[in-house]
Amino acid sequence: MNKKLTISTIKKSKGVKPLVMITAYDALFARLLEPYADMILVGDSLNMSFAGRSDTLSATLEQMIYHTNAVCMGAKNSFVICDMPFGTYTCKERALDNAINVFQNTPADCVKIEGGADKAQTIQYLTDNGIAVCGHIGLLPQSFRSEGGYKVKGKTTDERARLLRDAKAVEAAGAFCMVIEGTKADVAQEIAQSVSIPVIGIGAGAEVDGQVLVFSDMLGLFEEFTPKFVKKYLDGATLVKNALQEYADEVVSRKFPTEEHTY
Ligand code: KIV
Repeated sequence: MNKKLTISTIKKSKGVKPLVMITAYDALFARLLEPYADMILVGDSLNMSFAGRSDTLSATLEQMIYHTNAVCMGAKNSFVICDMPFGTYTCKERALDNAINVFQNTPADCVKIEGGADKAQTIQYLTDNGIAVCGHIGLLPQSFRSEGGYKVKGKTTDERARLLRDAKAVEAAGAFCMVIEGTKADVAQEIAQSVSIPVIGIGAGAEVDGQVLVFSDMLGLFEEFTPKFVKKYLDGATLVKNALQEYADEVVSRKFPTEEHTY
């Protein structure tokens, strides 16, 4: 069994070995992926791949707590991150109340917050009050509606400067690591080199301190759309459909159950 990572071992891994982060939303998949992941993210992406919504914005704290507990049950030896959903950290006091709710009602090791310099005060307030924070900069899925879509960041000089400022502010506020999503690879590389905490990329190129993918994307289970940055390591949807077709055929033809599966 792998040794569970701590905030300190995660920070020390920078420059030593890339970190592997994968999302999970339930005990079943958390147990399967635990041996391969340094950190498990209970992302609010569950609202799309698990709850079938078209974006992450309607995920609730109650949902996040429920799924975080399920993941922690399945992966008892993993460092688990609970994503703070949209609207739960609009000011630092609200963020602390909600993060305390997460910490008191789940064994999560930290929370994740989307935002850069604009969220520095909030991150500082949480870390000052004993809540470990993973930052999230770059493309912010919770800004999907206000930005009118998912927009890759870091294409202009201004955007690059803002991203760098965001990363430094998140680090200075006390985050122990950060996710960087949907940015040009060279700016993500520059950011990883400019801060001393691990920078975990998703759609941010190879030259960062680790990678995160949504498990249902990487296993080819989520068919609605596939972002350019997703590599499908399995054609999960086809495998599942083939198995279901075989089961259905065997039920209809009475080929299942045989003696072997009968009391
Ligand atoms: O919700 C999520 O799964 C995430 C990842 C995309 C990093 O935030």
